[in-house]
Amino acid sequence: MGWIDQISRALEKWGSISLKKMPRTIVVTGMGGSGCVGDYIYSLAWNSGKASAPIIVVKNYRLPSFVSEKDLVFVISYSGNTLETIKAYRQAISKGSMVVIVTSNGYLLREAYEKEIPLIKVKEGLVPRTALPEMLYGVLGVLDSSGISIVSKEEARKSLEFLKREINNVLDTANKLAETIHESNRNLVIATHTPLEVLAIRGKNEFNENSKIPVKIEVSPEWAHNDIVGWEKPVDKNWLVIILSDPVDKVGENLANFMEEVYREAGLETYTIELKGDSLLEKLIYGSLLFGLASVKLARLRNINPLETKSIRKYKERVDKVIIT
Ligand code: F6R
Repeated sequence: MGWIDQISRALEKWGSISLKKMPRTIVVTGMGGSGCVGDYIYSLAWNSGKASAPIIVVKNYRLPSFVSEKDLVFVISYSGNTLETIKAYRQAISKGSMVVIVTSNGYLLREAYEKEIPLIKVKEGLVPRTALPEMLYGVLGVLDSSGISIVSKEEARKSLEFLKREINNVLDTANKLAETIHESNRNLVIATHTPLEVLAIRGKNEFNENSKIPVKIEVSPEWAHNDIVGWEKPVDKNWLVIILSDPVDKVGENLANFMEEVYREAGLETYTIELKGDSLLEKLIYGSLLFGLASVKLARLRNINPLETKSIRKYKERVDKVIIT
């Protein structure tokens, strides 16, 4: 519910970093809640209609081998201490790439200060996944003021007004969705059409981390070339299918309707969500907040603490013994 403040803060800082050199490609690296910023940038760039440099999303401890001093690397880690992201950052530095750090704290914050690396410093003290808007709009602001705009400041400002108008409606819709999932007592499939796959991934991550349930993602039209067959003889039918569609996208809506028909014929329950918003950015913000709030409400209905992610902590305690490079 703090997203209005986050976007307002990012808009105040919009234009504070502008890069002098045009990059060949834009690499966005990070993991989990920070990594999903890269997915959003990729999707917004793909659909913006503006000529941007190609976007490469890296959720890994290694950058692609072609990355060089010609490329721009956004290194995103809310905590500033994620090992995979730190390793990717060190590679970017050793290859001489242009680097921008997005963080609130930790090792990466110290590096930015010590080495005078361009820094988007986001507010500290949150769990990383909830800081999506401040990190996302921070990156969009740097791109816009560096002559490689994907979203203009005006479009970003409009999305803030949109969120202010819609926030109560999002909360109501999220509560209904959470109650439906809770009553069904099933695992989730989030089924959607392009270009909304980023939102399906974000929704999956939110239900995983906040509500502690497994979630499967299915995206058309690719879905119709493989997943669809898996529903001919599923091992069990313990799935609730959330159909996520954009009513303004007629092809997308047709695909979503077809998906719904197939799931129903397979004997699965479905629940439809239609996105709101004029631009893709508005739709992504609407859908992300909807899934975020629904996943927190579902955690409460299940008597689970949405903030705690014990298994991620267990992995992070061991990661330096797992990833030895
Ligand atoms: C926790 C969360 C995780 C983290 C991930 C990487 O809220 O969403 O997915 O984002 O473990 O950590 P950071 O974001 O600190 O680099």
